[in-house]
Amino acid sequence: MRVAMIGTGYVGLVSGVCFADFGHEVTCVDKDGAKIAALDRGEMPIYEPGLDDLVETNVRAGRLNFTTALKPAVKAADAVFIAVGTPSRRGDGHADLTFVHDAAREIARAIDGFTVVITKSTVPVGTGDEVERIIRETRPDCDCAVVSNPEFLREGAAIRDFKHPDRIVVGCADARAREVMSEIYRPLYLNRAPLMFTDRRTAELIKYAANAFLATKITFINEIADLAEKVGADVQEIARGIGLDNRIGGKFLHAGPGFGGSCFPKDTVALLKTGQDNEAPLRVVEAVVAVNDARKRAMARKVAAALGGAVRGKTVAVLGLTFKPNTDDMREAPSIPLITALQDMGAAVRAYDPAGMEQAKKELGKVTFCHDAYSCAEGASALVIVTEWEQFRALDFARLKDLMAKPVLVDLRNIYSPEEVARHGFAYTSVGRRGNNV
Ligand SMILES: NC(=O)c1ccc[n+]([C@@H]2O[C@H](COP(=O)([O-])OP(=O)(O)OC[C@H]3O[C@@H](n4cnc5c(N)ncnc54)[C@H](O)[C@@H]3O)[C@@H](O)[C@H]2O)c1
Repeated sequence: MRVAMIGTGYVGLVSGVCFADFGHEVTCVDKDGAKIAALDRGEMPIYEPGLDDLVETNVRAGRLNFTTALKPAVKAADAVFIAVGTPSRRGDGHADLTFVHDAAREIARAIDGFTVVITKSTVPVGTGDEVERIIRETRPDCDCAVVSNPEFLREGAAIRDFKHPDRIVVGCADARAREVMSEIYRPLYLNRAPLMFTDRRTAELIKYAANAFLATKITFINEIADLAEKVGADVQEIARGIGLDNRIGGKFLHAGPGFGGSCFPKDTVALLKTGQDNEAPLRVVEAVVAVNDARKRAMARKVAAALGGAVRGKTVAVLGLTFKPNTDDMREAPSIPLITALQDMGAAVRAYDPAGMEQAKKELGKVTFCHDAYSCAEGASALVIVTEWEQFRALDFARLKDLMAKPVLVDLRNIYSPEEVARHGFAYTSVGRRGNNV
């Protein structure tokens, strides 16, 4: 199959290279010339484990190429995926569909012969209808089918997720399009990944329902963590105790500083808007959004409490800035409101992240960026683990103690055991566990 991928970001690039790896001929298109030039030089515009090798292999095999020219790529394609951004619209929180609609218009002008146009971006229910309307209005003569195929990959494990998905959801009414989609995903189907066909609106809503449900699980365990702290229980044991129940499942039950990232925050809010517009308010999701928003700054108060109540004039060292490990993505990272709140309280902040420093510098002002965990800890009255990168899991506590003004560790990801940290002479605060100093 000849595939054009419109938008070469976290989703488009990973999907494009994986499709090429399945044996399809893929052209990744992006209007960002710098991104395409970097890819042509063999440089990855994002940090994603394993991506550079897979890109190199498939470029070398002649199955993958990059361009800013949408027209020839679409003209030659059997299937055109739209994988452009759908950020929150400023002011009202609806998904901003400008990029999707613009892409649809450009695609329509270039279509040649029967072409399947597939929305992979996360888009509100009904967007497929609008994409189809735009295409038919722009090119009344064109032969195409518009399909929804939401993406469920997670940054940091994106290639694995794409190649071993729990399911592939395809919303499609056209028999020819169904054949094309089956052919594109055939290698995964052979691996027994369930290929679920449904109607387009249902496929669109499945994506939002999935993200909202996962965000709810995280928020639920975060509130249980707060209660556990108050009553002297341990949230990790609670998560295990409930997660072993197959009806609940153990994933997404890690208490922490609240969810962030490029998807959950914007998708939960966009789903609320869809609910309101359709007079079907989603009260549970409303609570999730409100609780999660409040939690991020509450984490700064937790740090202040670990420092005896006041942070003014003190230095706080922050380890991990990206919204999760193994990505450089800083979108809606919990580190941002945490650091801002600490600064508002009068703290000086030092920070280190293994992959997100470049992005973080654009988001955060007045932070001293350091080159590793130890230089970050120098002179700090507290060390705060915000993102659980592997390299923070075995810190040299003796070394840290020498470097820091005070041996105080705030572990917002519960990666250490309270006993272990106490043995090293550190005061320790984590989330929802016994043995917290505060
Ligand atoms: N990031 C994730 O983990 C993830 C997971 C699942 C779904 N999604 C969804 O996938 C979509 C894309 O997300 P992302 O994180 O990859 O975004 P991104 O911002 O990393 O990438 C989008 C790319 O599209 C390009 N683009 C925009 N308009 C274009 C056009 N007309 N022609 C060519 N290129 C164009 C931009 O230059 C950008 O490089 C979003 O809807 C998102 O919600 C993201």
